[in-house]
Amino acid sequence: MVEDLRDAGERMGRDELAAVQRERLRATLRHAYENVPFYRRAFDAAGVRPEECASPADLARFPFTTKADLRDQYPFGMFAVERSRVRRLHASSGTTGQPTVVGYTERDLDVWADVVARSIRAAGGRPGQVVHVAYGYGLFTGGLGAHGGAERLGCTVVPASGGMTARQVRLIQDFRPEVIMVTPSYMLTLLDEFERQGVDPRSTSLKVGIFGAEPWTEEMRREIEERCAIDAVDIYGLSEVIGPGVAQECVETKDGLHVWEDHFYPEVVDPVTGEVLPDGERGELVFTSLTKEAMPLVRYRTRDLTRLLPGTARPAFRRMEKVTGRSDDMVILRGVNLFPTQIEEVVLRTPGLAPHFQLRLTREGRLDALTVRVEARPGTAPPRRAEAAREVEAAVKEGVGVTVTVDVVAPETLERSVGKIKRIVDLRTQG
Ligand code: DLL
Repeated sequence: MVEDLRDAGERMGRDELAAVQRERLRATLRHAYENVPFYRRAFDAAGVRPEECASPADLARFPFTTKADLRDQYPFGMFAVERSRVRRLHASSGTTGQPTVVGYTERDLDVWADVVARSIRAAGGRPGQVVHVAYGYGLFTGGLGAHGGAERLGCTVVPASGGMTARQVRLIQDFRPEVIMVTPSYMLTLLDEFERQGVDPRSTSLKVGIFGAEPWTEEMRREIEERCAIDAVDIYGLSEVIGPGVAQECVETKDGLHVWEDHFYPEVVDPVTGEVLPDGERGELVFTSLTKEAMPLVRYRTRDLTRLLPGTARPAFRRMEKVTGRSDDMVILRGVNLFPTQIEEVVLRTPGLAPHFQLRLTREGRLDALTVRVEARPGTAPPRRAEAAREVEAAVKEGVGVTVTVDVVAPETLERSVGKIKRIVDLRTQG
């Protein structure tokens, strides 16, 4: 018999899960209404009361929470408990303005460790293994979130954080981790460094990579899996909701991410009208926390675009399709919407091109223009580089319906990621 490693929450059937969700949802709405003035005002303005939510379908009558709301309540306005009960703070970098702060009680940290432990297990990690964490440590939730979950699962954690790439390669060879947790773009940086040091990345102890914090494609999965002979699976989360561990792809199916619905209730809404869409339809992902104490969240608009699908490897939990874009990353080029992942797919399918690329937006007269700067793989001769550029231009024209210019540059030209990669360089405001 195969040992069942799932935790009690994961073993719930769909009916049991639905009952747990109903009860937790009511408790969350009450907790938010009674303890966060922002929510009291918002619910009163919408004319809704927590007790009117008998099931998740009633959630549609409740107001959304947005990033702007969190910014307005900076720093502690969204907290529903005394500050002295808050054990940890994390924050977004705030590069686009006022940062947003999130807080955790002791129990919140416990739930977080549980869902990340569950995620690592679903990815194929097992107690007793060594987990190399190369997500950044600090105010970003990636490092400490992954760390807490790996410890909870009973693993040996290597808190490498991001950066000092040459040393990371050394640590992986010396400590022999089975699992690595890192952004997919930084994984590419690590793979290049292995090769630079003359070490075959296929020869390491690594078996599983748990990649998230930024969009990545099936083509990138193949690239990484082939280059280092591991299973590459997707982990999703956002600080506002808890951090990593909101949803996880199972290694046995690799078919999208199971949302840990006993703690985070997902909806998909029309990004323009806010109307709730049926499962299977694409739109903006919205989350309501079901167990958070310090910072309950009601209908938080993630701006991530995806759709909800029935569960597979964990039948009670719906899956979300891989997030291939967020509304903020969308480039509108002469009326056509384009996501960086669409370029990633094409680049990775084109022989001779490396998975390192950057999108430069400029303005030519009154029109926006997009140049894809992409590195050639080492050893690609100039004629092939030129040919590859034309192939990408044609494939983007054909697949996305827009004209872009492709500039193939020499290997090692573009800046490497050490964490979340920034694909778009917007030069439109200059000149
Ligand atoms: O990136 C939490 C995290 C850390 C998730 C480590 C996974 C691994 P934030 O910095 O708040 O939190 O950024 C959240 O990152 O709304 C998505 O746009 C994006 N994102 C996160 N995971 C994925 C993923 C962390 N697997 C924002 N695929 C989210 C695509 C992702 N985008």
